[in-house]
Amino acid sequence: MGIEIVDPRVEDYLRDLLGGEHEIAAEMEEAAGEFPIVGRVVGVTLEVLARAIGARRVLELGSGFGYSAYWFALAVGPGGEVHMTDNDPEKQARATDYLGRAGLADRVRSHVGQALDVFDELDGEFDVIFNDIDKTGYPEAWRRARDRIRPGGLYLCDNVLWSGRVVEGIDDAGQEEITAAVLEHNRAVAGDEGYRSTIVPTRDGVMVAVRLVG
Ligand SMILES: C[S@@+](CC[C@H](N)C(=O)[O-])C[C@H]1O[C@@H](n2cnc3c(N)ncnc32)[C@H](O)[C@@H]1O
Repeated sequence: MGIEIVDPRVEDYLRDLLGGEHEIAAEMEEAAGEFPIVGRVVGVTLEVLARAIGARRVLELGSGFGYSAYWFALAVGPGGEVHMTDNDPEKQARATDYLGRAGLADRVRSHVGQALDVFDELDGEFDVIFNDIDKTGYPEAWRRARDRIRPGGLYLCDNVLWSGRVVEGIDDAGQEEITAAVLEHNRAVAGDEGYRSTIVPTRDGVMVAVRLVG
């Protein structure tokens, strides 16, 4: 059993204060059920971070039905690009529908397949790479992403506190392989001399690493 990183009462406060009115995002939250999406507070955090660096080109590794992409799509604005990837075609079809109805179709691109294979086929650097694939894939995703983010750009990754299981003594029975992958990933990002990193301990922890300039 993991733990709640943020007290649910504080989470509700953050959502009420910062969440804003977003009709399609609310519809997606309603539809999420057991499917893991980043949720409103992290969604707004992703948007703010992307806006802060003037991001125009974003790559998501693991987009599901487009919830986190919604927030990046707001941030990049008209003429920007948000590349979504997911190995589930049904989820990506839903993403295209939601984001189209939100008026964001002009800036989102859907790619169905293994996220890292799709990544290899895309050219150039990104302002932001957001990693939200299966956690055992985190270390490899980081290794591939670190050289494809422009100086001043951001590497972001969800669930890096893994419901507290990164801390010894918090039960991860049966999930040791995932814990090991998250720990390896976090150590690699935090220790990378080309990046300056922090973890925003919102919901399940968001890694924020900025690529150093020069
Ligand atoms: C946590 S969900 C993504 C949620 C999404 N980022 C959001 O917050 O709205 C993870 C998604 O990544 C997909 N996925 C996991 N590992 C993947 C991989 N290696 N390649 C492509 N898709 C992957 C799953 O199908 C799932 O839809």
